[in-house]
Amino acid sequence: MDKFIVEGGVRLKGTVAISGAKNASLALMPACLLAPGTFTLNNTPNNRDLWTMSRLLGSMGVQTDLQGDVLTLDASHLTSHEAPYDYVKQMRASIYVLGPLIARYGEARVSLPGGCNFGPRPVDLHLKGLEKLGAQIEVEGGYIIAKCPRLQGAHFHFDVSSVGASVNILMAAVLAKGHTTLTNVALEPEVMSVVHMLSLMGARIEGTGTTTLEIDGVDELHAVEFATIPDRIEAATFLIGAAMTKGDVTLTNVEPEHLTAVIQKMEKAGCELEVGTSTIRVVMDDNPEPVDITARTYPGYPTDSQAQWAAFMLTSKGASTIKDTIYPTRFGYVPELQRLGADIETGDGYCIVKGGAHLSGATVMSSDLRASASLVMAALVAEGRTEILRVYHLDRGYEALEKKLGSLGAVIERETTEDF
Ligand code: UD1
Repeated sequence: MDKFIVEGGVRLKGTVAISGAKNASLALMPACLLAPGTFTLNNTPNNRDLWTMSRLLGSMGVQTDLQGDVLTLDASHLTSHEAPYDYVKQMRASIYVLGPLIARYGEARVSLPGGCNFGPRPVDLHLKGLEKLGAQIEVEGGYIIAKCPRLQGAHFHFDVSSVGASVNILMAAVLAKGHTTLTNVALEPEVMSVVHMLSLMGARIEGTGTTTLEIDGVDELHAVEFATIPDRIEAATFLIGAAMTKGDVTLTNVEPEHLTAVIQKMEKAGCELEVGTSTIRVVMDDNPEPVDITARTYPGYPTDSQAQWAAFMLTSKGASTIKDTIYPTRFGYVPELQRLGADIETGDGYCIVKGGAHLSGATVMSSDLRASASLVMAALVAEGRTEILRVYHLDRGYEALEKKLGSLGAVIERETTEDF
């Protein structure tokens, strides 16, 4: 298992290109199951979750090939309609194959995802939505078994705003017979990106950019070339890393509109931001003001960047409260930050970060993807050497993070280790 070794105390400076959005790619890739022919997905990131999705699709007979950031997929000759536990346990987004498989092939067998490091993450909405479209669903031996010769359009309301369920039901509805209305659809840019690609493929969807989508099912769709949106979470991580090291960093290949909530909070903290059409420069030469955040659904502050914000606030001039309304127990990073000397109190669904404590290097353990990013950020400002174990969590969603940080001047190395 790899670990990172970071020597803190360097100001990040320079320019860094942001990769394509992991969470968008993970939704766009299974959409290729909906049509024959070769799909080309540009601006695809190269990280572990992408490899897992490629392997999962490959196990079903999809031809995939990643050259640089160009991913081609061809699902013309599918050999299986199953997502085995081995893949789903590595990555919950494997469940995205469920909607397209049942819609195009009339059957799917997908392992149920289990628990998750930051609390319960049910898939009831994915199943209820498909049932509403006429699928017969049974759960047997840990697998979701879905069948339906042809889905039928219906009205489905998402009781909770869910990125994953919105994507899954949308991908199913585009091939259902008749009209589907989906209400309380998640507004996250990754969901909208799927709407855009499906529309390009020939799907008839109205209401793009709103929480109500009206879909007229079609009999077939076709393969397309599509560009993945930039990763707003990777961008937020670099913005925060630059600010907390009192650096001067320009991000390229970003979509600033997707980062509005993060940008507003950074400005409130005292960061200077120059926002271009696809670039953002952040300059910081002081410790930030303490700024509270509450992670909410888009366009609110993203839950996937709250752990990084907590790290940022360690360098602030006072106390700030971090709340998460989506995953109220997503604070597993706190005890690890405390090992570096952080002064943080946790409560029910929130933590209070008291800035100004002296941070010194230690050995810490990654518990999930974004928690790992928070530890790396804190290590950048801790005095001395920090070892971050189990960075495979981080590799799930960041493309060569240590190389990108290194190019900005950070002293960070990857080492392969037997440690657990
Ligand atoms: C996606 C992202 C993840 C992000 C999360 C919230 C991907 C691959 N992952 O996860 O990085 O943290 O959105 O922005 O895109 N829920 C239910 N029933 C369901 C589904 C969800 O109750 O069937 C609840 C969840 O428990 C959670 C909330 O809905 O409280 C939002 O979760 P959801 O948007 O579905 O998250 P994911 O799609 O799993």
